[in-house]
Amino acid sequence: MARSASRPEARSATGTDWWRTAVIYQVYPRSFADSNGDGIGDLPGITARLDALVELGVDAVWLSPFYTSPQKDGGYDVADYTAVDPLFGTLDDFDALLARAHALSLKLIIDLVPNHSSSEHPWFQAALAAGPGSPERARYLFRDGLGADGDVPPNNWQSVFGGPAWTRVIERDGRPGQWYLHLFDTSQPDFDWTNEEVHELFRGVLRFWLERGADGFRVDVAHGMAKKPGLPDWTPPDPGLEGSSHDTTAPYWAQPGVHPIFRDWRRVLAEFGPDRVLIGEAWVEPLSKLAEWVRPDEMQQTFNFTFLETPWDAVRLKKVVDDSLAAFGSVGAPSTWVLSNHDVIRHATRLGLTPPPPQGEGLGPGSRLHPDDAVGVRRARAATALMLALPGSAYLYQGEELGLPEVIDLPDSARQDPTFFRTGGANYGRDGSRVPLPWESAAPTAGFGPAGAAATGASWLPQPPSWPGYARDAQLGIPGATLEFYREALAARRTHHLASNELVWLPSPDADVLVFRSGAVTVIANAGPTPVALPAGRVVLASGPVGSGRLPGDTTAWVVD
Ligand code: NOJ
Ligand code: CA
Repeated sequence: MARSASRPEARSATGTDWWRTAVIYQVYPRSFADSNGDGIGDLPGITARLDALVELGVDAVWLSPFYTSPQKDGGYDVADYTAVDPLFGTLDDFDALLARAHALSLKLIIDLVPNHSSSEHPWFQAALAAGPGSPERARYLFRDGLGADGDVPPNNWQSVFGGPAWTRVIERDGRPGQWYLHLFDTSQPDFDWTNEEVHELFRGVLRFWLERGADGFRVDVAHGMAKKPGLPDWTPPDPGLEGSSHDTTAPYWAQPGVHPIFRDWRRVLAEFGPDRVLIGEAWVEPLSKLAEWVRPDEMQQTFNFTFLETPWDAVRLKKVVDDSLAAFGSVGAPSTWVLSNHDVIRHATRLGLTPPPPQGEGLGPGSRLHPDDAVGVRRARAATALMLALPGSAYLYQGEELGLPEVIDLPDSARQDPTFFRTGGANYGRDGSRVPLPWESAAPTAGFGPAGAAATGASWLPQPPSWPGYARDAQLGIPGATLEFYREALAARRTHHLASNELVWLPSPDADVLVFRSGAVTVIANAGPTPVALPAGRVVLASGPVGSGRLPGDTTAWVVD
């Protein structure tokens, strides 16, 4: 099989608007590649493996947090926004990673976590020490409790990870005192974004990384930084949504106060030229509301979780594609597309579950749902072939190019997601999507860690026995392997300009089938069980075996006439 070109000039996403068509690959540093054998992935490990991402054919890499952190929430609990945690390396290691990425013509996006800090951040420690009414406490959301003794939380908000969103502190006199807000874990106190000092802190953080050369930021919880004034009680219309990131009627999600922050940051980015980007992690519905995050003077793009959460159903997929293109198009932004990340059940497993469990519930040995792996990966490849044919920018999550499934049978003792602990084990959480990657089938830890004397055979989450079979070296150059399918898809997407063409729907032969035209390519996705006729022409990509002019169920093909 011919290797696709990896020369920079062969790449499509260049120029100041590179992000409009880019394929952006998410690296979760703990789980990508471990250079020193301590069982935890690190920055030198990523640098050493970047060639593989060029060979895959992506345009940019987004790194989940690698900053100083007690790691209570996989690094989304930052204690120092401008330092590298020794677990992951040093600032020099970051510079080397960035230099290598740029030498390979890969853009590098880093994560920004502005809704909350770690409770170990010096500002929070100072707030605890300074006491009620102090300027130090005013950087966070401290409030007095209700009731005669102040022992009732200031309002009824629930944490996304389960349990109340407030924790009471012990004051310097040794007595219980004020409460602080944490929409996530107790170790993640929310900043008060009405405080100018908070704005100044983050302008400084942006400039620090932009000066080093970072190409942009993926902004964590970009729907949560502004809270409704007065912090009113809230009862969700659907009690199942208590604390969920999904109900944007909550007084802590999608408040208008977030938008001036993004406009301010956009001006900071502009100090460094026209091509640095802001990408919002905003769980906001409907899409017409989410589009407000990407108005021309705000962020460049935002994740499309409505697409991610759409089941494998032709009618619903067509609607979400139309809604996305209309909503983002109305503000001049590209749509984005994503199927997996470190917070959701991997799509090779999720699409084999009907219906999939809600985000955060996760999967474990005691789950009520049992995925069909063969169906899952078949649909996952079909869904990926659909996604990569759509106009706009697409996100891949490390390991999906290997067809990795969610790891379900992690022992409780290995789990680390705070969701698991804060729900008393009722929700397994997200660890199953974070198991360290397999690179070489015959190596210790399937090549996640080093070989030779440094090999320890350890990885921070245990790899299942099936992992070597998914290893990169077991798939590279093997026709039909998921890795080769991804490489072919990314190469053909570039060759046929699918990311920048206009999508035109064509009549469908079956209610379960989507057909559209993109330039010279006809894309046909069969989300049902029944084979249908393939359009005439040459098949340039198929997510699974096709033959004799028929497109089987759960398969997508790209055909050039
Ligand atoms: C979204 C991140 O992707 C997730 O991993 C994290 O737990 C929450 N935000 C809180 O920072
Ligand atoms: Ca390491």
